[in-house]
Amino acid sequence: MIIRTLTPADLEGYRLLRLAALQEQPPAFGTPVEKERKLALEAVALRLQESEDTYLLGAFLDYLLVGLIRFSLFEEANEKHRGFIASLYVQPDFRRRGIARALVTEVLLRARRDSSLRRIHLTVVTGQEAAIQLYKLLGFCIYGTEREAFSKAGQFYDEYLMELTL
Ligand SMILES: CC(C)(COP(=O)(O)OP(=O)(O)OC[C@H]1O[C@@H](n2cnc3c(N)ncnc32)[C@H](O)[C@@H]1OP(=O)(O)O)[C@@H](O)C(=O)NCCC(=O)NCCS
Repeated sequence: MIIRTLTPADLEGYRLLRLAALQEQPPAFGTPVEKERKLALEAVALRLQESEDTYLLGAFLDYLLVGLIRFSLFEEANEKHRGFIASLYVQPDFRRRGIARALVTEVLLRARRDSSLRRIHLTVVTGQEAAIQLYKLLGFCIYGTEREAFSKAGQFYDEYLMELTL
C-alpha cells in the first residue's frame, strides 16, 4: 500500500471515491451526494491543491485509490494550534486491512512534526461504530455530542465530537 498526498492529477479517482463516500448507507457524511455531483471539476481540483493549511491523503493499492482522508488547520490565525480530520473513507471491498489506521496514523505523524499544533478534532456520526473504534484506538476521546447535526432522506443524525491532544 502507498500513502501519499493527493494532487490535481488524482482528480478522477478522488471524485469517484468521494461520491461513493457520500452515498454510504447508513450515512457517514452530511454533504448531499447531489451537491458534490454538481460541483465543477475545477472546484474539485482546487481541493486537491495542497497548501500550508490543508491536504488530502490517499491510500493506493496497485495504483488504485481505495482510501481517503483530509486534514486541515482551523481557519483563524489564533486557531492554528488546532487541526481537524474529515472525509475518512475506505472503499468497502478493501476494509479491515488496516488502510484507515494507516491513513490516520500518517496524519498524526505529520501533525506531531508541527510543534505549533496542540490538538486534533473530528466529528463522527454516532452510528459509525467502525470509525469510532478506530479513532479511540488511535487515542481520540469523545467530548460531546452534536444532536441532529444533519438530516439525510428525512432522518436526523447525531455526531460525536472527538479530540486528541498531541
Ligand atoms: C471507518 C473506516 C474508514 C475503517 O476503514 P478500514 O480500513 O476498514 O479500517 P482498518 O482496517 O484500518 O481498522 C482499524 C481498526 O478500526 C476498528 N474497526 C475497523 N472496522 C471495524 C468494524 N467494522 N467494526 C468494529 N471495529 C472496526 C478496529 O479496531 C480495527 O482494528 P482491527 O482490524 O485490528 O480490529 C471504514 O469502515 C469506512 O470507510 N466507513 C464508512 C465511512 C466512515 O464512517 N468514515 C468516518 C467519517 S468520520
